[in-house]
Amino acid sequence: MEKADKLTPIDSPTNLKDSYNRIARKLRISLTDKCNMKCIYCMPTGNIKWINNKEILNFTEITRIVSILSELGITKIRLTGGEPLLRPSLDALIRDLIKIENIETISMTTNGFLLEENINQLKLAGLNSLNISLDTFKEERFRTLNGISNLNKVLRGIRKARELGIKIKINTVIIRDWNDDEIINFVKFARNMDLTVRFIEFMPLDGSGIWNYNLVMSKREIIKIIESNFQNVITLDKTNYSASDPATIYNFEDKIGKIGFISSITEPFCSKCDRIRLTSDGRLLNCLFEKEGYDLKQMIRNTKATDQELRKYIIKCYKMKPEGIIELIRINHLRPTLNLMHTIGG
Ligand code: GTP
Ligand code: 5AD
Ligand code: SF4
Repeated sequence: MEKADKLTPIDSPTNLKDSYNRIARKLRISLTDKCNMKCIYCMPTGNIKWINNKEILNFTEITRIVSILSELGITKIRLTGGEPLLRPSLDALIRDLIKIENIETISMTTNGFLLEENINQLKLAGLNSLNISLDTFKEERFRTLNGISNLNKVLRGIRKARELGIKIKINTVIIRDWNDDEIINFVKFARNMDLTVRFIEFMPLDGSGIWNYNLVMSKREIIKIIESNFQNVITLDKTNYSASDPATIYNFEDKIGKIGFISSITEPFCSKCDRIRLTSDGRLLNCLFEKEGYDLKQMIRNTKATDQELRKYIIKCYKMKPEGIIELIRINHLRPTLNLMHTIGG
Protein backbone atom coordinates (compact mmCIF):
# COMPACT_ATOMS: atom_id res chain seq x y z
CA MET A 1 0.00 0.00 0.00
CA GLU A 2 1.20 3.52 -0.71
CA LYS A 3 1.53 4.95 2.81
CA ALA A 4 1.95 8.46 1.38
CA ASP A 5 -1.66 8.77 0.30
CA LYS A 6 -3.21 7.45 3.53
CA LEU A 7 -6.33 9.28 4.69
CA THR A 8 -7.46 10.24 8.16
CA PRO A 9 -9.98 7.46 8.80
CA ILE A 10 -12.89 8.91 10.70
CA ASP A 11 -13.13 12.55 9.63
CA SER A 12 -12.05 12.09 6.07
CA PRO A 13 -14.57 13.43 3.57
CA THR A 14 -13.97 10.26 1.59
CA ASN A 15 -15.52 8.00 4.24
CA LEU A 16 -18.02 5.60 2.78
CA LYS A 17 -21.29 7.49 2.82
CA ASP A 18 -24.20 6.57 0.57
CA SER A 19 -27.00 8.64 -0.91
CA TYR A 20 -29.16 7.86 2.17
CA ASN A 21 -26.39 9.18 4.47
CA ARG A 22 -25.53 5.73 5.81
CA ILE A 23 -21.89 5.24 6.72
CA ALA A 24 -20.18 1.86 6.34
CA ARG A 25 -18.33 0.64 9.42
CA LYS A 26 -18.59 -3.16 9.08
CA LEU A 27 -17.19 -5.38 6.39
CA ARG A 28 -18.46 -8.93 5.88
CA ILE A 29 -15.94 -11.02 3.98
CA SER A 30 -17.25 -14.20 2.36
CA LEU A 31 -14.19 -16.47 2.24
CA THR A 32 -15.73 -19.21 0.14
CA ASP A 33 -19.06 -20.05 -1.47
CA LYS A 34 -18.55 -23.75 -0.57
CA CYS A 35 -20.26 -25.29 2.40
CA ASN A 36 -20.28 -28.62 4.22
CA MET A 37 -24.00 -28.22 4.93
CA LYS A 38 -26.97 -27.82 2.64
CA CYS A 39 -29.47 -25.71 4.57
CA ILE A 40 -32.83 -25.43 2.87
CA TYR A 41 -33.03 -21.67 3.50
CA CYS A 42 -29.72 -21.07 1.76
CA MET A 43 -28.30 -23.64 -0.66
CA PRO A 44 -29.70 -24.41 -4.10
CA THR A 45 -31.04 -27.90 -4.63
CA GLY A 46 -29.63 -30.00 -7.47
CA ASN A 47 -26.32 -29.26 -9.14
CA ILE A 48 -24.66 -26.23 -7.62
CA LYS A 49 -22.43 -24.05 -9.76
CA TRP A 50 -19.45 -23.43 -7.46
CA ILE A 51 -17.07 -20.57 -8.01
CA ASN A 52 -13.83 -21.84 -9.55
CA ASN A 53 -10.98 -21.83 -7.00
CA LYS A 54 -8.79 -19.62 -9.14
CA GLU A 55 -11.48 -16.94 -9.04
CA ILE A 56 -11.40 -16.85 -5.23
CA LEU A 57 -9.46 -14.00 -3.63
CA ASN A 58 -6.23 -15.05 -1.94
CA PHE A 59 -5.27 -13.78 1.52
CA THR A 60 -2.91 -11.12 0.11
CA GLU A 61 -5.71 -9.69 -2.04
CA ILE A 62 -8.17 -9.76 0.86
CA THR A 63 -5.72 -8.05 3.19
CA ARG A 64 -5.03 -5.35 0.62
CA ILE A 65 -8.73 -4.60 0.15
CA VAL A 66 -9.31 -4.53 3.92
CA SER A 67 -6.41 -2.08 4.35
CA ILE A 68 -8.00 0.26 1.83
CA LEU A 69 -11.45 -0.09 3.41
CA SER A 70 -10.02 0.50 6.88
CA GLU A 71 -8.77 3.88 5.69
CA LEU A 72 -12.30 4.62 4.57
CA GLY A 73 -13.83 4.00 7.99
CA ILE A 74 -14.31 0.22 8.26
CA THR A 75 -13.45 -0.90 11.78
CA LYS A 76 -15.13 -4.29 12.20
CA ILE A 77 -14.68 -7.44 10.15
CA ARG A 78 -16.93 -10.48 10.00
CA LEU A 79 -15.72 -13.62 8.21
CA THR A 80 -18.47 -15.57 6.51
CA GLY A 81 -18.95 -18.11 3.72
CA GLY A 82 -20.40 -20.49 2.54
CA GLU A 83 -18.65 -21.98 5.51
CA PRO A 84 -15.55 -19.95 6.43
CA LEU A 85 -13.93 -22.83 8.33
CA LEU A 86 -13.49 -24.69 5.03
CA ARG A 87 -10.79 -22.20 4.13
CA PRO A 88 -7.37 -23.53 5.23
CA SER A 89 -5.04 -21.42 7.42
CA LEU A 90 -7.75 -19.08 8.61
CA ASP A 91 -5.67 -18.24 11.66
CA ALA A 92 -3.01 -16.72 9.39
CA LEU A 93 -5.61 -14.47 7.76
CA ILE A 94 -6.96 -13.37 11.14
CA ARG A 95 -3.43 -12.50 12.28
CA ASP A 96 -2.90 -10.36 9.17
CA LEU A 97 -6.27 -8.60 9.41
CA ILE A 98 -5.83 -7.74 13.08
CA LYS A 99 -2.58 -5.94 12.31
CA ILE A 100 -4.35 -3.48 10.01
CA GLU A 101 -4.67 -0.02 11.50
CA ASN A 102 -8.21 0.91 12.65
CA ILE A 103 -9.47 -2.70 12.56
CA GLU A 104 -10.95 -3.25 16.03
CA THR A 105 -12.61 -6.66 15.89
CA ILE A 106 -12.61 -9.82 13.82
CA SER A 107 -15.69 -12.03 14.18
CA MET A 108 -16.96 -15.04 12.29
CA THR A 109 -20.31 -16.52 11.33
CA THR A 110 -20.10 -20.31 11.06
CA ASN A 111 -22.32 -23.38 10.93
CA GLY A 112 -20.17 -24.74 13.77
CA PHE A 113 -19.47 -28.16 12.26
CA LEU A 114 -15.68 -27.72 12.18
CA LEU A 115 -15.49 -25.58 15.29
CA GLU A 116 -14.32 -28.11 17.87
CA GLU A 117 -11.11 -28.86 15.97
CA ASN A 118 -10.36 -25.26 14.98
CA ILE A 119 -11.50 -22.96 17.75
CA ASN A 120 -8.30 -23.11 19.85
CA GLN A 121 -6.17 -21.87 16.99
CA LEU A 122 -8.65 -19.19 15.97
CA LYS A 123 -8.84 -17.85 19.50
CA LEU A 124 -5.04 -17.75 19.70
CA ALA A 125 -4.98 -15.85 16.40
CA GLY A 126 -7.25 -13.21 17.92
CA LEU A 127 -10.80 -14.02 16.86
CA ASN A 128 -13.12 -11.88 19.02
CA SER A 129 -16.53 -13.48 18.70
CA LEU A 130 -18.62 -16.09 16.96
CA ASN A 131 -22.13 -16.25 15.56
CA ILE A 132 -23.08 -19.91 15.21
CA SER A 133 -26.05 -21.19 13.21
CA LEU A 134 -28.28 -23.73 14.93
CA ASP A 135 -31.84 -24.42 13.79
CA THR A 136 -32.85 -27.60 15.60
CA PHE A 137 -32.04 -29.92 18.49
CA LYS A 138 -33.35 -32.97 16.65
CA GLU A 139 -30.88 -35.12 14.73
CA GLU A 140 -33.35 -36.25 12.11
CA ARG A 141 -34.55 -32.71 11.48
CA PHE A 142 -30.94 -31.53 11.38
CA ARG A 143 -30.45 -33.88 8.45
CA THR A 144 -33.52 -32.53 6.64
CA LEU A 145 -33.02 -28.87 7.44
CA ASN A 146 -29.24 -28.65 7.31
CA GLY A 147 -28.41 -31.55 5.01
CA ILE A 148 -25.79 -33.26 7.15
CA SER A 149 -25.63 -35.73 10.06
CA ASN A 150 -24.12 -35.31 13.51
CA LEU A 151 -25.79 -32.41 15.25
CA ASN A 152 -23.81 -33.38 18.37
CA LYS A 153 -20.62 -32.30 16.67
CA VAL A 154 -22.01 -28.77 16.31
CA LEU A 155 -23.16 -28.76 19.94
CA ARG A 156 -19.68 -29.88 21.06
CA GLY A 157 -18.18 -27.01 19.06
CA ILE A 158 -20.50 -24.51 20.74
CA ARG A 159 -19.61 -25.84 24.20
CA LYS A 160 -15.91 -25.76 23.47
CA ALA A 161 -16.04 -22.17 22.21
CA ARG A 162 -17.97 -21.23 25.29
CA GLU A 163 -15.42 -22.90 27.58
CA LEU A 164 -12.71 -20.85 25.90
CA GLY A 165 -14.62 -17.70 26.82
CA ILE A 166 -15.44 -16.62 23.27
CA LYS A 167 -18.49 -14.38 22.91
CA ILE A 168 -21.18 -16.43 21.17
CA LYS A 169 -24.50 -15.61 19.56
CA ILE A 170 -26.66 -18.41 18.18
CA ASN A 171 -28.41 -17.71 14.86
CA THR A 172 -31.71 -19.57 14.45
CA VAL A 173 -33.75 -19.24 11.27
CA ILE A 174 -37.31 -20.18 12.20
CA ILE A 175 -39.44 -21.47 9.32
CA ARG A 176 -43.12 -22.11 9.85
CA ASP A 177 -43.98 -25.81 10.11
CA TRP A 178 -40.32 -26.76 9.85
CA ASN A 179 -38.90 -25.83 13.27
CA ASP A 180 -41.30 -23.38 14.95
CA ASP A 181 -42.17 -26.11 17.47
CA GLU A 182 -38.64 -25.75 18.90
CA ILE A 183 -38.78 -22.05 19.82
CA ILE A 184 -39.20 -22.83 23.52
CA ASN A 185 -36.26 -25.25 23.45
CA PHE A 186 -34.11 -22.52 21.97
CA VAL A 187 -35.10 -20.15 24.75
CA LYS A 188 -34.25 -22.85 27.31
CA PHE A 189 -30.90 -23.32 25.56
CA ALA A 190 -30.18 -19.57 25.78
CA ARG A 191 -31.00 -19.64 29.48
CA ASN A 192 -29.16 -22.88 30.32
CA MET A 193 -26.03 -21.78 28.48
CA ASP A 194 -26.48 -18.12 29.46
CA LEU A 195 -25.90 -16.90 25.93
CA THR A 196 -27.85 -15.05 23.21
CA VAL A 197 -30.11 -16.86 20.75
CA ARG A 198 -31.26 -14.67 17.86
CA PHE A 199 -34.37 -15.69 15.94
CA ILE A 200 -34.03 -14.72 12.29
CA GLU A 201 -36.93 -14.09 9.94
CA PHE A 202 -36.55 -16.18 6.80
CA MET A 203 -35.45 -13.95 3.89
CA PRO A 204 -35.92 -14.71 0.18
CA LEU A 205 -32.25 -15.56 -0.24
CA ASP A 206 -32.78 -19.30 -0.50
CA GLY A 207 -31.37 -21.14 -3.45
CA SER A 208 -34.15 -23.69 -3.53
CA GLY A 209 -37.02 -21.36 -4.35
CA ILE A 210 -39.15 -22.32 -1.37
CA TRP A 211 -39.44 -18.87 0.21
CA ASN A 212 -42.89 -17.35 0.59
CA TYR A 213 -44.46 -14.99 3.14
CA ASN A 214 -46.34 -17.84 4.86
CA LEU A 215 -43.09 -19.50 5.87
CA VAL A 216 -41.85 -16.38 7.67
CA MET A 217 -42.33 -16.63 11.44
CA SER A 218 -42.40 -13.02 12.49
CA LYS A 219 -40.78 -11.54 15.58
CA ARG A 220 -44.25 -10.72 16.91
CA GLU A 221 -45.44 -14.34 16.60
CA ILE A 222 -42.31 -15.72 18.23
CA ILE A 223 -42.49 -13.30 21.17
CA LYS A 224 -46.09 -14.33 21.74
CA ILE A 225 -45.08 -17.99 21.96
CA ILE A 226 -42.22 -17.18 24.32
CA GLU A 227 -44.32 -14.99 26.58
CA SER A 228 -46.95 -17.66 26.97
CA ASN A 229 -44.31 -20.05 28.30
CA PHE A 230 -41.97 -17.76 30.22
CA GLN A 231 -42.12 -14.54 32.16
CA ASN A 232 -42.39 -11.32 30.19
CA VAL A 233 -39.42 -10.43 28.05
CA ILE A 234 -37.88 -6.99 28.43
CA THR A 235 -36.34 -5.04 25.57
CA LEU A 236 -32.74 -4.28 26.27
CA ASP A 237 -31.65 -0.74 25.76
CA LYS A 238 -29.46 -0.53 22.62
CA THR A 239 -26.68 0.89 24.78
CA ASN A 240 -26.42 -2.55 26.43
CA TYR A 241 -25.23 -4.25 23.26
CA SER A 242 -23.60 -3.47 19.97
CA ALA A 243 -25.52 -0.60 18.40
CA SER A 244 -24.94 -1.96 14.92
CA ASP A 245 -26.30 -5.43 15.77
CA PRO A 246 -29.22 -5.92 13.36
CA ALA A 247 -31.07 -7.73 16.14
CA THR A 248 -33.23 -6.26 18.85
CA ILE A 249 -32.16 -8.00 22.05
CA TYR A 250 -34.43 -8.94 24.94
CA ASN A 251 -33.74 -10.01 28.51
CA PHE A 252 -35.76 -12.01 30.99
CA GLU A 253 -36.65 -10.53 34.35
CA ASP A 254 -34.07 -12.76 36.06
CA LYS A 255 -31.45 -11.65 33.47
CA ILE A 256 -30.48 -15.24 32.59
CA GLY A 257 -29.92 -15.74 28.87
CA LYS A 258 -30.84 -13.31 26.13
CA ILE A 259 -32.95 -13.64 23.03
CA GLY A 260 -32.87 -11.49 19.93
CA PHE A 261 -34.81 -10.94 16.75
CA ILE A 262 -33.46 -10.16 13.32
CA SER A 263 -36.70 -9.09 11.75
CA SER A 264 -35.60 -8.12 8.26
CA ILE A 265 -39.07 -8.80 6.83
CA THR A 266 -41.47 -7.33 9.38
CA GLU A 267 -39.21 -4.57 10.78
CA PRO A 268 -36.46 -3.92 8.23
CA PHE A 269 -33.51 -1.98 9.60
CA CYS A 270 -32.06 -0.70 6.32
CA SER A 271 -32.00 2.93 7.46
CA LYS A 272 -29.39 1.94 10.07
CA CYS A 273 -27.39 -0.33 7.81
CA ASP A 274 -23.63 0.06 8.33
CA ARG A 275 -22.45 -2.90 6.23
CA ILE A 276 -20.59 -3.57 3.08
CA ARG A 277 -19.69 -7.01 1.74
CA LEU A 278 -16.81 -8.60 -0.12
CA THR A 279 -17.68 -11.80 -1.97
CA SER A 280 -15.19 -14.65 -2.23
CA ASP A 281 -14.71 -13.88 -5.92
CA GLY A 282 -13.79 -10.31 -5.16
CA ARG A 283 -16.95 -8.29 -5.71
CA LEU A 284 -18.01 -5.51 -3.43
CA LEU A 285 -21.69 -5.79 -2.50
CA ASN A 286 -23.38 -2.84 -0.85
CA CYS A 287 -26.49 -4.77 0.09
CA LEU A 288 -27.70 -8.36 0.45
CA PHE A 289 -30.09 -7.67 -2.39
CA GLU A 290 -27.59 -6.23 -4.84
CA LYS A 291 -27.05 -8.76 -7.62
CA GLU A 292 -23.75 -8.20 -9.38
CA GLY A 293 -21.75 -5.88 -7.17
CA TYR A 294 -18.51 -4.21 -8.19
CA ASP A 295 -15.59 -6.27 -9.42
CA LEU A 296 -12.52 -5.35 -7.37
CA LYS A 297 -10.68 -8.53 -8.30
CA GLN A 298 -10.75 -7.58 -11.96
CA MET A 299 -9.20 -4.22 -11.08
CA ILE A 300 -6.53 -5.87 -8.93
CA ARG A 301 -5.62 -8.74 -11.25
CA ASN A 302 -6.23 -7.37 -14.74
CA THR A 303 -6.09 -3.60 -14.59
CA LYS A 304 -3.38 -3.64 -11.88
CA ALA A 305 -5.14 -0.74 -10.19
CA THR A 306 -3.26 1.27 -7.57
CA ASP A 307 -4.60 1.67 -4.03
CA GLN A 308 -5.63 5.21 -4.91
CA GLU A 309 -7.64 3.98 -7.92
CA LEU A 310 -9.30 1.25 -5.87
CA ARG A 311 -10.16 3.71 -3.13
CA LYS A 312 -11.79 6.13 -5.55
CA TYR A 313 -13.75 3.33 -7.19
CA ILE A 314 -14.98 1.96 -3.84
CA ILE A 315 -16.16 5.41 -2.72
CA LYS A 316 -18.06 5.81 -5.99
CA CYS A 317 -19.64 2.35 -5.74
CA TYR A 318 -20.75 2.81 -2.15
CA LYS A 319 -22.65 5.94 -3.11
CA MET A 320 -24.86 3.68 -5.24
CA LYS A 321 -25.93 1.50 -2.30
CA PRO A 322 -29.62 0.73 -2.79
CA GLU A 323 -32.13 1.47 -0.08
CA GLY A 324 -32.38 -2.25 0.73
CA ILE A 325 -35.02 -4.87 1.44
CA ILE A 326 -37.25 -2.12 2.81
CA GLU A 327 -37.71 -0.84 -0.73
CA LEU A 328 -38.46 -4.32 -2.11
CA ILE A 329 -41.12 -4.76 0.56
CA ARG A 330 -42.61 -1.34 -0.22
CA ILE A 331 -42.95 -2.16 -3.91
CA ASN A 332 -44.17 -5.68 -3.15
CA HIS A 333 -41.19 -7.25 -4.84
CA LEU A 334 -40.15 -10.05 -2.46
CA ARG A 335 -39.76 -13.30 -4.37
CA PRO A 336 -37.84 -16.51 -3.59
CA THR A 337 -34.17 -16.64 -4.55
CA LEU A 338 -33.64 -12.87 -4.88
CA ASN A 339 -29.97 -13.56 -4.31
CA LEU A 340 -27.91 -16.61 -3.35
CA MET A 341 -27.05 -16.54 0.33
CA HIS A 342 -24.12 -18.94 0.11
CA THR A 343 -22.31 -16.63 -2.30
CA ILE A 344 -22.88 -13.54 -0.11
CA GLY A 345 -22.46 -14.87 3.42
CA GLY A 346 -25.45 -13.12 4.94
P1 GTP B 1 -23.25 -8.75 14.24
O1 GTP B 1 -24.22 -7.66 14.19
O2 GTP B 1 -21.85 -8.31 14.03
O3 GTP B 1 -23.39 -9.69 15.39
O4 GTP B 1 -23.47 -9.68 12.99
P2 GTP B 1 -24.77 -10.03 12.22
O5 GTP B 1 -25.83 -10.47 13.10
O6 GTP B 1 -25.03 -8.93 11.31
O7 GTP B 1 -24.22 -11.25 11.36
P3 GTP B 1 -24.66 -12.73 11.11
O8 GTP B 1 -23.72 -13.23 10.08
O9 GTP B 1 -24.73 -13.49 12.36
O10 GTP B 1 -26.09 -12.64 10.47
C1 GTP B 1 -27.27 -12.93 11.15
C2 GTP B 1 -28.45 -12.73 10.22
O11 GTP B 1 -28.57 -11.35 9.95
C3 GTP B 1 -28.31 -13.43 8.87
O12 GTP B 1 -29.56 -13.92 8.50
C4 GTP B 1 -27.91 -12.32 7.97
O13 GTP B 1 -28.30 -12.56 6.65
C5 GTP B 1 -28.67 -11.17 8.57
N1 GTP B 1 -28.02 -9.92 8.22
C6 GTP B 1 -26.74 -9.56 8.47
N2 GTP B 1 -26.52 -8.33 8.00
C7 GTP B 1 -27.67 -7.93 7.43
C8 GTP B 1 -28.08 -6.77 6.75
O14 GTP B 1 -27.33 -5.83 6.57
N3 GTP B 1 -29.36 -6.75 6.30
C9 GTP B 1 -30.24 -7.73 6.48
N4 GTP B 1 -31.46 -7.58 6.03
N5 GTP B 1 -29.90 -8.85 7.12
C10 GTP B 1 -28.64 -8.94 7.57
N1 5AD C 1 -32.88 -15.97 5.62
C1 5AD C 1 -32.41 -15.57 6.81
N2 5AD C 1 -31.21 -15.94 7.30
C2 5AD C 1 -30.48 -16.77 6.56
N3 5AD C 1 -29.27 -17.32 6.78
C3 5AD C 1 -28.95 -18.08 5.71
N4 5AD C 1 -29.94 -18.03 4.79
C4 5AD C 1 -30.90 -17.23 5.31
C5 5AD C 1 -32.16 -16.79 4.83
N5 5AD C 1 -32.64 -17.18 3.64
C6 5AD C 1 -28.48 -17.08 7.98
C7 5AD C 1 -27.84 -18.34 8.54
C8 5AD C 1 -26.51 -17.87 9.03
C9 5AD C 1 -26.35 -16.48 8.53
C10 5AD C 1 -25.09 -16.23 7.83
O1 5AD C 1 -27.42 -16.26 7.63
O2 5AD C 1 -28.60 -18.83 9.60
O3 5AD C 1 -26.46 -17.86 10.44
FE1 SF4 D 1 -28.51 -3.34 4.65
FE2 SF4 D 1 -29.52 -4.21 2.35
FE3 SF4 D 1 -29.86 -5.55 4.65
FE4 SF4 D 1 -31.18 -3.33 4.27
S1 SF4 D 1 -31.37 -5.23 3.11
S2 SF4 D 1 -30.11 -3.85 6.12
S3 SF4 D 1 -29.62 -2.14 3.16
S4 SF4 D 1 -27.94 -5.18 3.56
